[in-house]
Amino acid sequence: MQNILITGANGQLGHELTGLSYTHPYKAYKFFRTGREELDIANSEQVNRYFENHRVDCIINCAAYTGVDKAESNTEEALHVNGYAVEGLVSLAARNNTRFIHVSTDYVFDGKNHRPYIEEDPVNPVSVYGRSKLIGEKAVLDYEHGTVVRTSWLYSPTGKNFFNTILKIAEEKNELSVVYDQIGTPTYTRDVARVLLALALKALDDKDPYTGGLYHYSNEGVCSWYDFALEIIRLAGKICKVIPIETIDYPTPATRPHYSLLSKNKIKSELSLTIPHWKESLKGCINQLN
Ligand SMILES: NC(=O)c1ccc[n+]([C@@H]2O[C@H](COP(=O)([O-])OP(=O)(O)OC[C@H]3O[C@@H](n4cnc5c(N)ncnc54)[C@H](OP(=O)(O)O)[C@@H]3O)[C@@H](O)[C@H]2O)c1
Repeated sequence: MQNILITGANGQLGHELTGLSYTHPYKAYKFFRTGREELDIANSEQVNRYFENHRVDCIINCAAYTGVDKAESNTEEALHVNGYAVEGLVSLAARNNTRFIHVSTDYVFDGKNHRPYIEEDPVNPVSVYGRSKLIGEKAVLDYEHGTVVRTSWLYSPTGKNFFNTILKIAEEKNELSVVYDQIGTPTYTRDVARVLLALALKALDDKDPYTGGLYHYSNEGVCSWYDFALEIIRLAGKICKVIPIETIDYPTPATRPHYSLLSKNKIKSELSLTIPHWKESLKGCINQLN
């Protein structure tokens, strides 16, 4: 039986992967699902010990420092967890011939494009978080069995995310203000988790010539955070006025790209995928919540 390690298993994406890992066809694999307590990826001693005690055939790395604003002041930790710790994991993986599936972000781009970003587009992060994620993804892509999936605007019924924040505010207030000049695509964790597992199985299949690479994945469609908030409130049947505002009127410590739409053409053709539209997936998430 082949062993798959999920790191950051208590985060929103890790939690989703954990749930899926108990279902067909993943039952044929043994999963190690580790939260930060069991496996702190920034603790090299602990990581080394973990690899000594477990044979890991594939790692799906969901552990990350995801506080985009906090990273601006907590730079060291963000760079360490998202960058240098990933470099360490990659060198251990290389020594153990472990396949490496890593998650990165649309925030490696500066948002100045006028068409969806393809994998070959130049990166230019405008935040510490984006910079830190770029260090990690470079390390994984330098590894012959490394795969990086850049995704965007993750949400799920669990965890701290925009979806849950909007639902909470809509319970408590009659109106809220949301930026309309940041454009991208929300992505349901369940959809990207399926893709990560498909890539892991592909990487573990000796008969498959697959050797990793860089992919963009989000749900289909495009919207602003304002549109996303409106649709969450509408589908959840809440009554709350949403006021569109500009980023300049909602200052945050970290700069975010104004446009970070990802082109999914590569992953769609290589994995023969049909990707759900973000509104369809949002419906699914709300149903899961109910
Ligand atoms: N959220 C988004 O909108 C978004 C968008 C694009 C890409 N991504 C990427 O998607 C991946 C998953 O993100 P997510 O949304 O699931 O984030 P999340 O909910 O914040 O989960 C991240 C998990 O990593 C854990 N973690 C942090 N430092 C760790 C360490 N040193 N060792 C082990 N675990 C550690 C966190 O634990 P604690 O809670 O204890 O800190 C948390 O459980 C990340 O790579 C992220 O960069 C996220």
